[in-house]
Amino acid sequence: MDDPIFSPALYESTRRPLHEASPMPGACYVSPQWYEREMETMFRKDWLCVGRAEQIPAVGDHFSIEIIGQPMIVVRDENNEIKVHSALCRHRGAIITESAGRTRAFVCPYHSWTYSLSGKLVSTPGTPPPFAGVAGFKMADHGLNAIRSEIWGGFIFINFDQNAVPLIEWLGDLPDFLAAYNLQDMQWTHRDMYEIDCNWKVWLENAFENYHVPTIHRDHYDPANPQNWMFEKTQGPWEAMSSKRSIVAYSGLPVMPGLDEQQEKKLFHIWIQPSLQIILTSSYMKFRQYLPLGPEKLRLYENWTFPKTTVARPDFGDIVGPAYYEKYSQVVREDIGINPNIQRAMRSGSYTPGRYSLEEHIVHRIATRVIDRVVGPDDKKAKA
Ligand code: FES
Ligand SMILES: [Fe+2]
Repeated sequence: MDDPIFSPALYESTRRPLHEASPMPGACYVSPQWYEREMETMFRKDWLCVGRAEQIPAVGDHFSIEIIGQPMIVVRDENNEIKVHSALCRHRGAIITESAGRTRAFVCPYHSWTYSLSGKLVSTPGTPPPFAGVAGFKMADHGLNAIRSEIWGGFIFINFDQNAVPLIEWLGDLPDFLAAYNLQDMQWTHRDMYEIDCNWKVWLENAFENYHVPTIHRDHYDPANPQNWMFEKTQGPWEAMSSKRSIVAYSGLPVMPGLDEQQEKKLFHIWIQPSLQIILTSSYMKFRQYLPLGPEKLRLYENWTFPKTTVARPDFGDIVGPAYYEKYSQVVREDIGINPNIQRAMRSGSYTPGRYSLEEHIVHRIATRVIDRVVGPDDKKAKA
């Protein structure tokens, strides 16, 4: 018998049209059963961003990332191809590396099994040779486990589901929507990492509504210049909203070539379900990776990229230095001030969901997409 938390009746009020709907119950942000089902039906089925191709420009360059408890190595191999391997040693499971850098091979820190960049086991050192006489042991059977990966716009995605559709198909109309930005020509420059005491959706929902900005980010907000967000109609696993201005002023960096007049002025917040957020302007792109560590803990990577032509300018380092990143991290810290507060309400057991404002369109879309996966598709809509 299914846990009562998965009963569709509990989510009817969230599934109504936005102007009639209520937020999800608090248990969806706390319950281990709900969280496990999210991992199973979203994080183990959808394409997840692990980073950018230009983070590993040369053969042997690699970085590590852990997503839903799976430690992985992302590497540029001997054939100049990007590969993602499970970081678990095929001997007795030690995590082979959790760092980034350039190497010729990966050596397990436990008994020194050594793997090539493409994940083949190349040596099992020891004296006398430890695997001489071990029945049926073959090096070729003990390479690092491969994780399926594909690249779009310079973003490296992985998928734990061998049956998932190819990335480009899964993305729907997003690649066309962003074609003019030539995202593959962006240069990754910086990453901040945060660990926050909240459910991944608490942060995500906060990131996709502007309603809190005049309160939480009041020092950055100009009431004379409201942002007036607009919502995009999308096909596929993504949502987007746009505004003519950022609350943190534009940098004065050059506008990318090839954008139309609208794109030159606009700031987009894009959610690619479940775990990637792109913040795109005409002069830079930030992206956030949502890495849940449990129902009530989130690791957040906040990444910066700029067009390669911008990074090549002699004055780039003067404009984009520690003070530049610090200015933007103030906004993140303001959100860190409120999101764990929300998490406590979700955990209290006495939160009664209120109503969404019409500014919370994407918050509602996030909730309905999660419910569709975790509880199952909406029967009423399916019949309509
Ligand atoms: S666990 Fe890696 S060599 Fe033993
Ligand atoms: Fe915020």
